[in-house]
Amino acid sequence: REVDLVVVGSLNIDLTAGVQRHPLPGETVQATALTTSAGGKGANQAVAAARLGARTALVGRVGADAHGDTLLAALRADGVDTAHTRRDRSAATGTALISVAATGENSIIVSAAANAQLCPADITAAQPLIASARVVSVVLEIPVATAAATARAARAAGTRLVLNLSPVVDLPAEVLSAADPLIVNEHEAREILQRNGFPVPDEDIAHASALLQLGVRSAVVTFGPRGAAVAEPDRAEHVPGVPADAVDTTGAGDAFAATVAWRLSQGDPLPTAARWATLVGACSVQQPGAQPSYPKLDRVLSTAEAAPPR
Ligand code: RIB
Ligand code: NA
Repeated sequence: REVDLVVVGSLNIDLTAGVQRHPLPGETVQATALTTSAGGKGANQAVAAARLGARTALVGRVGADAHGDTLLAALRADGVDTAHTRRDRSAATGTALISVAATGENSIIVSAAANAQLCPADITAAQPLIASARVVSVVLEIPVATAAATARAARAAGTRLVLNLSPVVDLPAEVLSAADPLIVNEHEAREILQRNGFPVPDEDIAHASALLQLGVRSAVVTFGPRGAAVAEPDRAEHVPGVPADAVDTTGAGDAFAATVAWRLSQGDPLPTAARWATLVGACSVQQPGAQPSYPKLDRVLSTAEAAPPR
């Protein structure tokens, strides 16, 4: 297969304000800094994987505007194949309004715009690309019907599907049953279990196993500095966290999912892929922004003091 990873998902321009604390409803606060950077959960994954060395393509849509230019240029600068990242003539580029408090905690408003126009026909057009890839990764800042079409395309091509169910939406069984793994953070895991009428476990490690009840083939739940839980039908494992001084966690989950997808494309077992992903996630939270904070492989290896994960 010629491509390691195809990402199907969103591109957003991220307008990030640093604040002492987030405004309350009706309140105005002063920003300490304002930055514009490349983001969106799909583009973030594509750039994170490409920067680590994966041969990566992104299926998505931007508007025919200056923000679209910026996002495409960012992808190309990292070597991401953008042949299936289309310009939408009738919609603006997606935008995320982000505030990051002094604690590092963020709050985000997303305007989907062109991302909402990514349609099942775009996936049909990308079918040969998906068939040439080892792994396809899908995020949910795009229409559910498009995610479903991606799951069908992956199944038809025998390409492994990584499903980052972020943000949480209700998905048809045909999508869930293709997910190998489903990746979510602890808040998303809780929300999904509650929505589906399953009890929320007390222990971190039990969250991933509980998600198998949805019919997914495997599951990974991230717990920030507490690491991650990995579940497959015959085993469950806790992957320890990697200590980091977090300045901005925006896009850390995307870096995590991208790293899992990349390592799976290289033949790693899922727990090993998750160990790599906690390292990359820890690198990303130490610098501001999403894409600007993603490490190259040498920075990851210098963080992995002993040996790279096995
Ligand atoms: O996951 C982080 C991303 O979420 C940001 O880059 C922002 O664009 C939103 O989509
Ligand atoms: Na970051």
